[in-house]
Amino acid sequence: MTPARRRDRRVYTASHPVLFALMAGARRTPLRRLGSRIIVSGHDEVRAVLTDVPLDRTDDRTTGGAIRRHEGEGALFDQSGDEHRASRRSLAARLDSRGVAALRPRWATVLDDAVALLRAGGQLDVCRLADEVSGRTTAALLDLDLASGEHAELARAARRTASDAAAAELPSWRRAAYRDHLAEAFGGRVDPLGKMLALAAVTTTYAAIPRAVAWVADEGWWDDCRDAQRRAVLVGELLRVLAPTPLLPRVAASPATVGGRRVTPDDQLLLMVRHAVDAHRRDPSVDDPAPAAVSRLVFGAGPHACPGAGLARAQLDDVLAALSDVRPRVVRSRADRRAALPAWRELVVVAR
Ligand code: HEM
Repeated sequence: MTPARRRDRRVYTASHPVLFALMAGARRTPLRRLGSRIIVSGHDEVRAVLTDVPLDRTDDRTTGGAIRRHEGEGALFDQSGDEHRASRRSLAARLDSRGVAALRPRWATVLDDAVALLRAGGQLDVCRLADEVSGRTTAALLDLDLASGEHAELARAARRTASDAAAAELPSWRRAAYRDHLAEAFGGRVDPLGKMLALAAVTTTYAAIPRAVAWVADEGWWDDCRDAQRRAVLVGELLRVLAPTPLLPRVAASPATVGGRRVTPDDQLLLMVRHAVDAHRRDPSVDDPAPAAVSRLVFGAGPHACPGAGLARAQLDDVLAALSDVRPRVVRSRADRRAALPAWRELVVVAR
């Protein structure tokens, strides 16, 4: 096991031990029944559930049902058909390639400051950098006019809200009463769709960017980050191996067949995205990347596939390009035991 993979494993073993044990036990079979749960680990089977099986998006045992319960109706994950298509259309211009290009200046200054700090011999906590990047991006997406200190506060409030919700939904020892920290901090300024967008953008950025920076720093891949083409391949590979949303809970709306097995609405389908993209055994490689059809699955598939994929790739690409100038190394890493998704709480780097 490479030092990068060994370090990254700690975000699972320290912060999501139950999830890690569940995943480790199920990775060899594409489909495995555990009581009323079916663990789906095969690539074709996970894709088939997302694209071919009619799903009940409002069931309490799914992401959509959990979001509906906490945030109210109309937050994409819980929608279907025409209603869902209309919500996606209302988002499209903000997240397509022109939308992403318009958002880029929001995080560019944050990256300039981070590089300046490292050049001056300072220590940079990449988790705080991720909060600043996602806080600014989210404020722009939601049209919130915030003062400079409030961006990170928006990100923290979104993370804490998602963390409380996840403790109730995911296989975990931790139990927390749900609290809407976002509403407490920002009052009625965020509607259910905006709130869900904030949670999706902030939690995934906080999970992905620090873990990606740690992996690149541990492998010493900063030269790859200086070349735009190689960097783009590396970004795809890092997102595949980090699989920031490693497990998607879903429920079929009616009986269906997946991988030759019958599933019914009584079963909770635990889609192990991490295994479906081979993240657990195939390291990132710029020279021999996994096929794009495989790595794209980290963003889901079918009508609900992640609309923020282009944004997530652009942000990681920009972070790696900026940091490659100073080739940082990791001096301290601490897993976040409360985060909704496997993540570092502190990932401190210094210039080499
Ligand atoms: C590395 C970062 C990210 C990963 C791995 C990721 C992954 C996912 C996955 C797996 C889904 C479920 C897809 C399905 O059910 O088929 C999803 C949905 C979604 N994501 Fe992301 N995401 C990321 C970043 C973002 C960002 C930055 C945003 C917003 C700016 C975002 C917004 C959404 C929304 C709104 C949905 C719900 C889509 C729907 O139900 O129609 N995501 N994402």
